[in-house]
Order: sequence, then C-alpha cells, then structure tokens
Amino acid sequence: MARDQSQEGLLRDSERWSKDEAGHDSDSDIEATEYLDRGRAGTPPKHEYDQSFPTANKARQSGIIRCMGRRSRCCIGFLAAFIGLWILLSAGGAFVYKKYQEEPPYGQSPPWYPSPKGGIAKTWAASYDKAAKMVNKMTLAEKVNVTTGTGWQMGLAVGTNGPAVHVGFPQLQLQDGPLGIRFADNITAFPAGVTVGATWNRQLMYARGRAHAIEARQKGINVLLGPCVGPLGRMPAGGRNWEGFGADPYLQGVAGAETVKGIQSEGVMATIKHFVANEQEHFRQPWEWTLPHALSANIDDRTLHELYAWPFGDAVKAGVASVMCSYNMVNNSYACGNSKLLNGILKDEMGFQGFVMSDWLAQRSGVASALAGLDMTMPGDGAKWADGESFWGPELSRAVLNGSVPVDRLNDMVTRIVAAWYQLGQDDETKFPRQPPNFSSWTDERMGVLAPGSPSPQAQVVVNQFLNVQANHSVIAREVAAEGTVLLVNEGLLPISRTGLDEAKLKTRRSTNARTAGKRHTGKFSIGVFGEDAGPGKGPNHCKDRACNQGTLASGWGSGAVEFPYLVSPIEALRKEFDSSKVELHEYLTNKPSITGKDKVALEDLELCIVFANADSGEGYVKWEDVRGDRSDLNLQKGGDDLIVDVAAKCGSGSGDVIAVIHAVGPVLMEKWIDLPNVKAVLLANLPGQESGNALVDILFGKTNPSGHLPFTIGKSLDDYGPGAKVMYLPNGVIPQQDFSEGLYIDYRYFDKEGIEPRFEFGFGLSYTNFNLSNIRVESKKAKSALPEARPSPAAEPPSYSTVIPPKDEARFPSGFRALEKYIYPYLPAVDNIKVGHYPYPDGYDTERPLSGAGGDEGGNPDLWATYVTVTVDVRNDGPVAGAVVPQLYIEYPPKDEVDFPVRVLRGFDKFYLKPGETHTAQFSLTRRDLSYWDVVEQNWVMVTEGEYKFGVGLSSRDLPLTGRW
Ligand code: BGC
Repeated sequence: MARDQSQEGLLRDSERWSKDEAGHDSDSDIEATEYLDRGRAGTPPKHEYDQSFPTANKARQSGIIRCMGRRSRCCIGFLAAFIGLWILLSAGGAFVYKKYQEEPPYGQSPPWYPSPKGGIAKTWAASYDKAAKMVNKMTLAEKVNVTTGTGWQMGLAVGTNGPAVHVGFPQLQLQDGPLGIRFADNITAFPAGVTVGATWNRQLMYARGRAHAIEARQKGINVLLGPCVGPLGRMPAGGRNWEGFGADPYLQGVAGAETVKGIQSEGVMATIKHFVANEQEHFRQPWEWTLPHALSANIDDRTLHELYAWPFGDAVKAGVASVMCSYNMVNNSYACGNSKLLNGILKDEMGFQGFVMSDWLAQRSGVASALAGLDMTMPGDGAKWADGESFWGPELSRAVLNGSVPVDRLNDMVTRIVAAWYQLGQDDETKFPRQPPNFSSWTDERMGVLAPGSPSPQAQVVVNQFLNVQANHSVIAREVAAEGTVLLVNEGLLPISRTGLDEAKLKTRRSTNARTAGKRHTGKFSIGVFGEDAGPGKGPNHCKDRACNQGTLASGWGSGAVEFPYLVSPIEALRKEFDSSKVELHEYLTNKPSITGKDKVALEDLELCIVFANADSGEGYVKWEDVRGDRSDLNLQKGGDDLIVDVAAKCGSGSGDVIAVIHAVGPVLMEKWIDLPNVKAVLLANLPGQESGNALVDILFGKTNPSGHLPFTIGKSLDDYGPGAKVMYLPNGVIPQQDFSEGLYIDYRYFDKEGIEPRFEFGFGLSYTNFNLSNIRVESKKAKSALPEARPSPAAEPPSYSTVIPPKDEARFPSGFRALEKYIYPYLPAVDNIKVGHYPYPDGYDTERPLSGAGGDEGGNPDLWATYVTVTVDVRNDGPVAGAVVPQLYIEYPPKDEVDFPVRVLRGFDKFYLKPGETHTAQFSLTRRDLSYWDVVEQNWVMVTEGEYKFGVGLSSRDLPLTGRW
C-alpha cells in the first residue's frame, strides 16, 4: 500500500522539520515526566506523579546520583539491577525496539489528497461568505496565528490560539471537557458521558449539553472540548470509556449529536473527540509510555466505518464545529496526520465543514499534517510539552513562504476556523466578549498573569472573577444521574421507604424470614450502610484531576474531570431521607469494617444493608495504584467484592436484605456476589456527578422510577468479551500494533455471535413497573436500492483566494515587539534566506482521489439520512406506578453472500413516560445509513436488496418480543 505521510513530506525546510518523522533521532532524550506536567498552580506539584513512573529522570534522581556518590559495590550492583529491570519493565522497550527499529511499519494508511476545502454545504454558506471576507484581509502571520495554539499555559484556558487583530478575529478560548468546565470554580459537575448514555434519553442529552454550554459561555469559553465518542468501548477496561456514552456506535452517535446540538444551541462550539480509535490509554502517545511512538490501531475499512467513525458522522450531521484528532496512529499513520482519515473520511465522505484540531501534542509532523487535513494545532507546542517550539507557528509561516504548504491549504485551514466562529454567532460581542476567560485554569488566586507558562515578567491582573454560572443546572445534573442509574436486580425489595420498608414489605419480610419470624420488633428498623464509596472520603477534589479512588466515586479522572463545586455523597442524602424516629442508621463507611462490641450486635440485628463499591479509571498521563489509565481488570476495586460478600454474610447474620450500589467507569464483574440469596437489589449508578446522593435517593425511595438501561454488556468474565477486548498492557513492537481483528464484534455483537450468556445484556434495565409492547407495524417509505442516490453537486462553492505566496515581510517579527519567552508567535526572526523551492510531496499526493459517493453534503450524501422504513409499536404501562420506558429496536440484516453481519445491531430507541394503564406509540425511523453496511469494494454504504430485514423491538438486546420484517 502506498505510504501516506511520507517522511519526504517532512524533509522540507528548517532543521527541526528535517527530523525523521518516525522520531527515532528526534527526541530520544525526552523523559516521560515532562508529559505529565498538566497541573495547575495551587494543586500538588508537577512531579507528584513521578512516584508512579519509572522514567530515566527518576532513575537518575532516586538511584543513580545518590548511589554513585557513595560508590559502593552494592550500589553499583543495585544500579545494574535497577537499570536492567528498568529496561525490561519500561514497557518491554529495548527488546521490541531492537526487533522493529530497522523497519517500523510506518504509513500504511492510503493517501488521500488534496485536502477538501470547506464551504460546500448550504447550511454553512453564509458563514463561509463572511469568513472569506475576513480571511482575505489577513496577513500571513495572522492566518498562521489563527491555526496555532500559543503554547501550554500561555492563556487562561487549556488551549488558546492567536488572534488576527487587524481584522477583528479574537483569540479562541478552548476548555475541557465533556462533563463540565475543567479547572473552573462555581460550575456544575455533571454526570459523565457513560451515565448520560445510560439514560437513553435524547432530551436529557440535549439539556445537559445546553446547560454545559451556558456555563462555558458565561465563563468566557468559545470552544468546549467535548463531547467524547471515542473511545467507543472496544475494551471494557479502557481508561476513558466513561467519557463517552456506551459501547455501541448508534447510541454514541445519538448521544454525541444531541450533546453537540445542545452545546451549539448556546453558540459555543462543540468538539467531537477523539478521532479515532483511541481505545486504550497504554501507548496512546509517544514517550508518555517510554516508547518513542504511539500505538497503531489497525482497523479494516468496514469496521472503521460501521463502528469507530460512525458516531463522528452523527456529530458532523448535527453541525459540529470542531473535530479533535487523537493521539494514536491508525494503520500506522498518526491520526492527526492521516490523510485518509482527515481528508478522505472526515472532510470528503462526511462533508465536515468545521476545523480539525489536534489533541494536545497529538500533532507529530509539520507540513505533512497540514497536507493531511489538520487545521489547528493544540496547545501549540510540538514535540514536547511546554517548550514553546511548534511544528507550526513560525514554521508554518516558513513553509508557506517556501512553497511547501500550498497557500490555498493555509487559507482553507483559517477559513474553516473563522467560518465556524461565524456559524456559531460568536461575532456577537454581547455574547462572546473579546476577552480572556473570567477564570484561570492555572491558579485559584484572584490575581495572576495571563501567560503563566512563560518565564517572562508579566503584569498581575485579575484572572479569577469567581463568577457563579451554575444557575439551576443541578436539576438537570440530578435528573441525568437518576435516569442514568440502572436497576439490575430487584427481588421485590425496592423501592424502600423513609421508614425503611413500607408496611406491607416489612410484614412479609418479618413473617417469612427465618431469623426474624416470630420475633417481636418493637424498636426501630435497623439499617447498615457500608463502604467507603458511600461516604465523602477526603472530599471530592482531594486528588489532582480526580486521579485517585477515594470516597464516593462520581467521575473518572484526567482532562475529562472537573473541580467539584460540591458532591452530595450517598450517606449524606440517606441520612436526610430516613425518618430517624423510625430508622436506626448504622454507618460503616469503610471497605474493611472491623465490627466488634456494640457494633457486632447491631450487625446481627440489621434488617437492611446498603453496600457500596466502585471501580475507577481515567486518562493515562497519571495513574492510581496499578490503574494507569486503563483498569487492570474488571473487578470492583479496593476490595469491593469481598465487602459485598462479607456484608451479605453478616447483615442480620445472613438474613438481612442487601442492596448493592455500584459506581463505576464501565462494566464490572459481579459473579462473586450476584447470586447470593440475600443480595436482593443491585443498582449500577455509573458516574453520577455532583448530585450523586440525591439522585440515588430518588431511585431508592421511588421518587424516580428507574429507567436507566445498560450502555454496555456486563459479562461474567473479561474473557467472555473476546480476545480483542483485552487492553494491550505490554507493547509488541516499537510501534505497538493493535490489530482490531475482531472487526465488528465488540460488546454485545461478540456475545451474540458466540452465543455467550452475559450476566446482564446490553440495553438491560428494570423498572418498578411493567411495560407491555404490542402491535408492531412496519411501513415502507422508500423502495430498497443498493446504493444511495448520486452524490449531489456542492450546494455552495468554497471561497477562492489568490494563491500567490504572500510577501515574506508578513512573517517578519515586527520591530519593537516584546515577545514573551516560549510563547508561540507566527513570526520568524529572519526571512531573507527563505526560498521557494520544489519540495517532494507525500506519495500519492499527485493522484487526485475520486470524490466519495457517500459524500456530497454536511454529514455525507443526504440520501443516507433519508428514512426508508418506519416501525411503530404500542407500549403500555401495565404496572402499578408511573415510569419511563425505553423501547429499543435492533435490526438483523438479510443474509448476503460473502458479507458477514452481526446477529443484530441497535438502530433505534425512544424514551417516554407512562402513567399506569397509559399507552403510547413509539416510532422508529430507519435511515438508509441505518440499513446499510459499508461495502469496501463499492466504497459506499450499501443496502441489502434481496431478502428481508428483520426488526426486533423490546426492552433490551435480548428481550425483543416483537418482530417485524421489511
Ligand atoms: C486529552 C483531551 C483533552 C486535552 C486538553 C488531552 O490529554 O486527550 O481529551 O481535551 O488533553 O486538556
């Protein structure tokens, strides 16, 4: 296969660009710790994390220097052993490095050039017109400024690009992340993506996105770095799965698109991330894991389209302003320099009209990434954190001046960014004042400097105004947390009441229970609450970036976490809720309750025990215990399994009823305790955010009828998810090769194909009432045909500009300009030596690619979004209480020669509220894309025209009582 980002693409100009792109000779002295400095002042210092990383730096500090001072033999021995061990352990580096160093399998993704220009969609035409007028007036330096971040900590947000002052284009302020405003005060800590996915509620997805954006706008943020739909959840232990909405592309797509719409309804630009296949944290980026390269996710074309790229398609269709490309390689080209992904799939096929931004330091080349379709580099620094040396900035100015980056590529990069700004109405200064954010990501103090990353002296200004932007968003946070709680088991125990159990349940319990039958119960109802996860611990913000598991778990860790304004712990809410005149509450907020004396007696008399346990994970730049981003297994952490088993045995000497409440970043194994007879209720509360306890109480006490459904499968073992579901903890090469050879078969698709019985299937979730589904109707709206209609001609023309290389002087440092050290400017100190030359482009650059039949408009060929068939069913609440129901539709493809199809795939869901006895009709509209598979020969979405599609409708992926055909 042709090589994509050829190294020649980089052998263009300045010295730094002539480095081997494979990086072997470039930054081998970079130490992993440098990549860990992501903190803010006032929180534990940068090298807090050194504890956990066996870096060269640390070796020097801890062993080598001190030891050599003493020069003892023992020390030399220790040193040798240490170095040996380090070489072995630092991700197996040396051996595999040697094995592969001669021929790293670099650049196997097909080339796709030139980069499609933005401005073809009707929905963006007006914004592109305005942008063209502005961009036309920009100088070279201004254009470059707009594309390049100013450097790590060179603004108050986590990312800031440069302005184009003379034409009135401001700096954009970019901030994480998917569940709230990171590093900010007085904001809402919403439930995480996985909890949102578990609601299966489109309105809530939208409402949470909108509330998030209101806070962002009021804090002075232009671009939110979320939502996250990648990772998708190929590996249930993947560290960042919780930032997304669940292990199914359709669910991720809907949730991602609704969130985008919600965010953008407030004028804030959303960023859909991480494009694509950043499925695990180990080896996600160079050097962070010792190796000089990121892992390569090797994916076949069909799987890429049907699983990993699918939800990005929904976001593009929803008008997303920005896409963040990921750290990893895909098919051995870095995702942020992969022309097939960015130019081909995203910009041509999906018709993406906004701009592609790199993940923080995910850009690994200069010219090559520009040609491959990257439009903005973040945070600006290139190969190393915070060194002020960019792959772009002045180097992009130089590359345009010497002809190695075509002028029209730069114009397109800038136009895309400016058009997105107009598209979201951010030229309205009443909503987006052209000022820095009113908070600083780097200090909690009121006063500070505007570019704390620079050592240059700067004036102190007010950087934190402590503006409270929470409004009543706690209501939405609470609703999402409650609706995102999944009731997995309920043997008549829930809901409980303020007095413990209601009269009827209490009577049954006391008369049927062997231990308590016949006993006189005159005292209070005795309840025990167990587990560290029920309590506040050391406070929700105890660990930097939430990177430890202590107290109740309400979020994972990393850039996707926020500073909690408060966190209502379960125990706090339970204390308030129980009627203390009727209930005696015993608290054991530890995972190792040592129960003696009075407590022991109390334990024997407990009639109800609520036990909490959890499992945490996060972003891989920091680890907690042995969890370095990705979980090491699917077990409950901190002895959670043993705690539940122990509580079940001791609660009322084994006769008390037990409710297990789990907070988790994803699926956990429950086999050790799920079948224990007195574990009568199990709630998976996911990651509920600041309203944790309140939302839990809403469910436990029946104020909200549970309506959450699993956004992933809970298996009986990790093996049950298949070989592809295992995180690669040790590298298999200098560029670790992760082959997605299971193809389409992840999560329920794998369980269904292999006939494996999960513990709880995808889509499962109980209610306090019963729903009955009936009367399925299938109505054909359009005739089947294999291929979509012909790609439409563009509804608008991209702006055209002069392609003449601008005067060199436009990139010269203005005289008298006081530059801040390390701050990234677009200027060059000397321009006279720059000559226009003929530089080789990547292989395949001159072969213009045919435009994709799947493209043609924002979101792709419009016919892909046309409804071809509708399915309706009646849903009736047959039970005693009101509640919300989630009917789900799965399709089975007709068989087709030589095309393998999963047993079934999710292609529709709805959610509505029904009073007892009430009936409502659910309607599912199936689009051409929903009914198609990606045909690698046609290079298009193809519908199966022979045979019948089968539609299963029900309340989970394995409870599909109604069947329709088309
Ligand atoms: C993460 C992104 C995040 C960025 C900025 C990166 O490490 O992968 O998701 O938006 O940092 O904080």
